Amino acid sequence: MDKKELPFIKSMFENIADNYDFLNKLLSLRQDVYWRKKMISSLNIKENFKILDVACGTGDVIIEIMKNNYKNIHLYGADFSKNMISIALKKIKKKNYTLNFNFLLTNALYLPFLNESFNAVTIAFGIRNILNKDKALKEFYNILKPGGTLAVLELTTPKSGFFFTLYMIYFKKILPLIGQFFSENRQAYRYLPESVENFPTSDIFINKIKKAGFKNVSKSKLTLGITTLFIGSK
Ligand SMILES: C[S@@+](CC[C@H](N)C(=O)[O-])C[C@H]1O[C@@H](n2cnc3c(N)ncnc32)[C@H](O)[C@@H]1O
Repeated sequence: MDKKELPFIKSMFENIADNYDFLNKLLSLRQDVYWRKKMISSLNIKENFKILDVACGTGDVIIEIMKNNYKNIHLYGADFSKNMISIALKKIKKKNYTLNFNFLLTNALYLPFLNESFNAVTIAFGIRNILNKDKALKEFYNILKPGGTLAVLELTTPKSGFFFTLYMIYFKKILPLIGQFFSENRQAYRYLPESVENFPTSDIFINKIKKAGFKNVSKSKLTLGITTLFIGSK
């Protein structure tokens, strides 16, 4: 099961890397920036924090943290797509940020860190691509220090109602067309709504976080529930 997700998802992200930032902002109407800010503010970052952003993609979570000028924190980004990470590196280089950072080319299921290494682990729009969520969440738990925070940001399906109907028309019909037009990757933007629909309900996902060992697990719906922020502590 761990291996099944790799070939298709990995090559899809390798292929869409160049257009990813542009399409992300366009398709989410820049809401993605606000969602990541919310996630980062939930971490209560302090001096000397070590933070790992899993499925870091083009580095937007790490860059958003860097913009805050925290002192002496060390940031790590992990992703299995070389193309996504190389865009992250280019973006950081352009801005001359001074915080310590490292990027690792690795599968989220096999993170090469010692147990109890991090004060916070984040994953934004990455967990729905990982089939074995239980294993990933356990891995995040192990590498967090006691008292550390897990923050998961994920696209979710809003509850029924007028907004739900409008959103579903946009998400399932319009978004794939825009995505396909700009990225020439038909599969990727058909996969996006499917992967969100297949994501467990918030309650089931919260139970998975708890099963991995996390305490004080909570969720906050953002933008009428099209994204949810899940928090847990070790
Ligand atoms: C939708 S992008 C999100 C990127 C970034 N976190 C953001 O906020 O824009 C998902 C990322 O997860 C990565 N990814 C998916 N499955 C992964 C896995 N099993 N291990 C490591 N990275 C993975 C992809 O390569 C891609 O960069």
